[in-house]
Amino acid sequence: MYDSSIMRERRSTISGLYKRPLSERQAITRDWADLTDKDLRALEEGGLALHEADLMIENVIGRYALPFGVATNFLINDTDYLIPMVIEEPSVVAACSYAAKLFRAGGGFQASSDESLMTGQIQLLDVEDRSRVVQTIERHKAEIIDKANETAGSIKARGGGAVDLQTRVFKNTSIGEMIVVHLLYDARDAMGANAVNTALEQVSPFIEKITGGRVNLRILSNLSDKRMAWAEGSIPASALGHECASGPEVIDSILEAAVFAELDPYRAATHNKGIMNGVDALLIATGNDWRAVEAGAHAYAARAGRYTSLSRWWKDEHGDLRGRIELPLAVGIVGGATRVQRLAQTALKILGVQSARQLAEVAAAVGLAQNLAAMRALATDGIQSGHMRMHARQLAIAAGAPTEDVVAIAQQMKAEGKIRLERARELVNQRKSPS
Ligand code: MEV
Repeated sequence: MYDSSIMRERRSTISGLYKRPLSERQAITRDWADLTDKDLRALEEGGLALHEADLMIENVIGRYALPFGVATNFLINDTDYLIPMVIEEPSVVAACSYAAKLFRAGGGFQASSDESLMTGQIQLLDVEDRSRVVQTIERHKAEIIDKANETAGSIKARGGGAVDLQTRVFKNTSIGEMIVVHLLYDARDAMGANAVNTALEQVSPFIEKITGGRVNLRILSNLSDKRMAWAEGSIPASALGHECASGPEVIDSILEAAVFAELDPYRAATHNKGIMNGVDALLIATGNDWRAVEAGAHAYAARAGRYTSLSRWWKDEHGDLRGRIELPLAVGIVGGATRVQRLAQTALKILGVQSARQLAEVAAAVGLAQNLAAMRALATDGIQSGHMRMHARQLAIAAGAPTEDVVAIAQQMKAEGKIRLERARELVNQRKSPS
């Protein structure tokens, strides 16, 4: 059984979690988050019955399962977290945990976030006198906001709803004068897409009436740059030493990698993909719309007209490595799939977050950790050695190895330097009929 000080001290530094049997990992997580039998059953079964899946989308013919892991070692704003991650890619959870350990050596992450302000857009066309229309909208601002809030329901009850209005003018476009009205909407603990879209549809006829224009699109923007989250942290140079390079040398290589991603969009895309490996895995686990966050993150990365990295890295006054990430994070802990998928509830319990903002802050820290892990690996060993262990296991499974033989076959392929499907098949056959 595991050391009970893990729970007493509530430290997420659970050493060698990956070496422990799956049942022990489940027991640790259960005790960490007070999971119920229902949660544990959901972890076994996938959290979604076929008839529930059938109510979620159209033309359902089945369900699709992915591995659910937890990353360790996270210390964010002086609170310990286990991070639930749902992802098919090997090494991501291990790399994230390792990087969180490095940040912990520097005091953990400091993270913060904006209010949960979403932006909804109304495209107003057939505008005859744009200055007059902008003034009219400004004059009726309070009325428009009140109308938007007639639909706010549970979000209003939680203190949210429409809070402001802005207009943007696009002159002489190929479709004539175009005014875009932004409705700023405080979604509180929800992601807010439904609430915002409902509010936009509610106010559009009124906007047409007062302006004499014609409303075309009414939809939220996924560039939710008024709903940003940040995370920052340091790693002592002494923690970054590697068998073939000293800590300061590894820092220099990481800083070179960071400049590469800052300047070159080809590299920035991959650098940011690594960040989103962590962010998305957490968002999927918690039932969030990860495509919305992806869209916002990449649009934000291109905000200056050239696509760049979402993180910045530098050497601090002690010669230690310091990193910072900022990205739009429109996430919720209520509504949407968080309601239907039981594992989303389980994931939120494991995290122990109390608000959407706290979830966004954790997601930013996870993105920064994942980024550090990738850059450190790339700047030292390369990423293939870490990937290959799990890849070899996947090949063994694909070759039909029984569960109890998977690790041994993977190890043998690795030792031979032949991590290939044909070799996995040969080894499976040899085990079936040893000569
Ligand atoms: C692989 O999923 C992610 C990386 O390519 C990220 C990066 O290159 O920074 C390792």
